[in-house]
Amino acid sequence: MEINNVLITDAVDQACINLLKENGINVDCKYNLPQEKLLEEISDYDGLIVRSDTKVTSKVLAAGTNLKVVGRAGAGVDNIDVKEATKRNIVVLNTPGGNAISACELTCTLITALARNVVQGAASLKAGRWDRKLYSGHEIYGKVLGIVGLGRIGREVAIRMQAWGMKTVGYDPIVSAEEAAKFNVKFLELDEIWPIADYITLHTPLLPETANMINSNVLAKCKKGVKVINVARGGIIDEEALLRALEDGKCGGAGLDVFEQEPPTNPVTLKLIQNAKVVATPHLGASTSEAQIRVAVEVAEQFIALTNRNQKYSSVAGV
Ligand code: NAD
Ligand code: MLT
Repeated sequence: MEINNVLITDAVDQACINLLKENGINVDCKYNLPQEKLLEEISDYDGLIVRSDTKVTSKVLAAGTNLKVVGRAGAGVDNIDVKEATKRNIVVLNTPGGNAISACELTCTLITALARNVVQGAASLKAGRWDRKLYSGHEIYGKVLGIVGLGRIGREVAIRMQAWGMKTVGYDPIVSAEEAAKFNVKFLELDEIWPIADYITLHTPLLPETANMINSNVLAKCKKGVKVINVARGGIIDEEALLRALEDGKCGGAGLDVFEQEPPTNPVTLKLIQNAKVVATPHLGASTSEAQIRVAVEVAEQFIALTNRNQKYSSVAGV
């Protein structure tokens, strides 16, 4: 496949740009392009590289009359109209796994931070208060962690939280009970997880089957005080239902890295972020130097492999 001109529209690590250039591919980086500008310019390129900010809609794909490949420097391809790309014979590729450890580590950080009110306590102390009683927490030792989605990230979270003494249960439609047992997760149906989990962590893609998976019906089935963590995708949780559950005490806290709308402007999401029991981060799951280098190199190497060039490999590929 001929790939000579690549447009990068979301900030990816320089390693990607260097590697493409070293392999004779021309690269233009134009970050934060408004959609109209992208529509105007995309026909100049045969390759496009994005993270999650650029929405590669059917319009973009239609305007990309020379487009042969769209690369996602990351795991989720929900910002790319994959169906439309397939119709147009445009290859869509991603870098699953490159940022899994980083997303897993942020998940574990949110679980432990929620247990001990770390963020709220630190903010209160910085504001000049000494609220020891108010921010007393609980141990996670012996608590039940329900993991929805036992793929790359879900199973890494399980292994790490087991080291803290958590009991791990989980569900995934393509993972058997035998497979889950290999990483010490007890496989249960979702309806068996809701009433026993002290913490629920989500690690599925956003699909029609997972959209609003955590909704008011599900929250009603959960333990009082359940804590919910989402480092997967906005839209898997019904934000209005979660907000209500936090306000009425059914939900004891939430750790949220992803939102229905990013950056969030809608009132429900903003209220959720402001809720005292919520620890919210601005989609930082993959934002580590290691993960960004890995996904940058992986996406570039896949582009080069498509061109059948005699590939020059990155010196940082082993990060
Ligand atoms: P993965 O493909 O390895 O695992 C996802 C798992 O979810 C699969 O095993 C799949 O079978 C399972 N699944 C699908 N539908 C399900 C359902 N209805 N119920 C339960 N499980 C279901 O993906 P991953 O690398 O582990 O990533 C998981 C999610 O995390 C993706 O959405 C990805 O985009 C997101 N992610 C977010 C960040 C971030 O910055 N916050 C970083 C990396 C990944
Ligand atoms: C992903 O799906 O890989 C994440 O959302 C990370 C990202 O692109 O920042």
